[in-house]
Amino acid sequence: MNCKKCSPLKGTIKVPGDKSISHRSVMFGALAQGRTEVTNFLPGADCLSTIRCFRQLGISIENSKSTDHVIVHGKGLHGLSKPADILDVGNSGTTMRLISGILCGQSFETSLIGDESIQRRPMGRIMTPLAMMGADIKSQPENGCAPLAINSVLGSHAKLTGIHYNSPVASAQIKSCILLAGLYAEGETSVTEPSLSRNHTELMLTEFGASINSIGNTATILPEPILTGRRIEVPGDISSAAYFIAAGLLVPNSEIMIKNVGINPTRDGILRVCRQMGANIVLENVIDHGGEPVADLVVCSSELTATQVSGELIPTLIDEIPVIAVLACFAKGQTIIKDAAELKVKESNRIDVMVDNLTRMGADITATPDGMIINGGRPLHGATIDSKSDHRIAMSFAIAALLAEGETHILNAECVDISYPNFYSDLKSLNR
Ligand code: S3P
Repeated sequence: MNCKKCSPLKGTIKVPGDKSISHRSVMFGALAQGRTEVTNFLPGADCLSTIRCFRQLGISIENSKSTDHVIVHGKGLHGLSKPADILDVGNSGTTMRLISGILCGQSFETSLIGDESIQRRPMGRIMTPLAMMGADIKSQPENGCAPLAINSVLGSHAKLTGIHYNSPVASAQIKSCILLAGLYAEGETSVTEPSLSRNHTELMLTEFGASINSIGNTATILPEPILTGRRIEVPGDISSAAYFIAAGLLVPNSEIMIKNVGINPTRDGILRVCRQMGANIVLENVIDHGGEPVADLVVCSSELTATQVSGELIPTLIDEIPVIAVLACFAKGQTIIKDAAELKVKESNRIDVMVDNLTRMGADITATPDGMIINGGRPLHGATIDSKSDHRIAMSFAIAALLAEGETHILNAECVDISYPNFYSDLKSLNR
């Protein structure tokens, strides 16, 4: 994919449905009794992996790749059946970690595999708490990574055991995995995080009928609820909107509206950081979708100044840090991103990959053990970018390319299909 400098961006765009919420709508719909109808579902490769896995577990799910409308015919908490084959999660960490929590509570064994990237990502972070609950989950290569094998323990223990888990990392995937296993446990299960990660599981499972109590950074779930199928309207994904927010702020004389974006406070760190940097972003038509706040965002080009991104803010913008690094290249002064070592274990090592590729474009950027330091203001020039098949890297560099002198060539640019299949055509639609 070749990208280059563009004229002002104008117009209105609607980003696709939220990836985290789309995954959960299928998973929780499968565990509920009856029909769950999902609109604005994200038909990206990751969420289609979740649909494929639940079909293998005996759940009937109606959808077609081109539509964002999904109907899940749930069979209740104990309605899943043993799959004939290994479950393949593709590139999706959310699918692998959340489904593991569910599968540990079943009376049949399963195994899970995924692509090359997922086989390098740490699964010990879910295996440890699941083992504490009495689950039998193993890394087949014995390196803490997938493929994973899950054996049923229901024969000997009858149930998993509820625990209180102090998670060393603020991660919604770890938290959700444990809470889902807690559906099948004896007694209550709770998770305390060092800072609060996205709370879509807590909000949506409660809407389905689960009993979840969230106080500060601790979420507690009671077992064996009766979950009932429901309608879910998925908000637009703020992580996808982030690329257009950055483009609208950086490309001179731009004004764009991004419609129907989820602005849950556990996800809206990108808005807070942009405002800290002096961005002109206005929220209009704020409404509520089943506990998830949604708004239209009006973004106008702005002069940006450097900032510090750290601490409790990090989990609220973890997937937006690559595009924040791009913003920082055009901000006046030194931006410091820290407390973000988690970036090393995403679809790629996002610290190294951002620093390598932005350096190639002429940026003044240095990697640190838990983030990066960027001195803004150096002009960028086109270069060949290795996306490492990481969707968020490819999209971040498509935005950097809009401001660079000359042409930028993004390798494996089609990986945007993971979370935003129409990304390039949507971007083009704002630059007529
Ligand atoms: C997600 C949680 C985050 C995020 C990922 C989606 C989720 O991961 O990076 O893209 O849907 O729960 P961690 O929980 O590992 O930080």
